[in-house]
Amino acid sequence: MTLTKQEKQALIDLANTARQRAYAPYSNYPVGAALRTRTGRLYTGVNVENAAYPQTMCAERVAIFKAVSEGEMEFEVITIVTDNGGSPCGGCRQVMAEFGLDTIVILADGSGKLTKETTVRELLPDSFTPDRLGKQVNN
Ligand code: THU
Repeated sequence: MTLTKQEKQALIDLANTARQRAYAPYSNYPVGAALRTRTGRLYTGVNVENAAYPQTMCAERVAIFKAVSEGEMEFEVITIVTDNGGSPCGGCRQVMAEFGLDTIVILADGSGKLTKETTVRELLPDSFTPDRLGKQVNN
């Protein structure tokens, strides 16, 4: 699947706008995500922190869980925007891998500049996927 420059920038902008709604009073590290499914639907997510720190939820997982809860499980691309173009955490990589190793991952910084384009497969080599449990789902 190929994305045009304009499509990439639109997803980055969507994630960056969502990022303004991040609830990150403890880390001051707002994260925004925008997920596009095979059917073309768009889901955004932001990190939602908590005074009990471990209860925090990452932006990527919010977007993915929103999509799955709406019946969407096939993803084309997820775009993640942070101040410094930070890479997704291990937990989020694992959750992304559940729904397909070929999902494109686009990272951008707070100015909206694309800093990296990769795939879940590249971000999580030798991953533990549903087929390891004998399940034929997305991978
Ligand atoms: N965070 C995300 O939202 N996604 C990631 O992949 C890495 C970390 C959030 C969690 C926390 O609210 C803040 O960034 C600092 O770790």
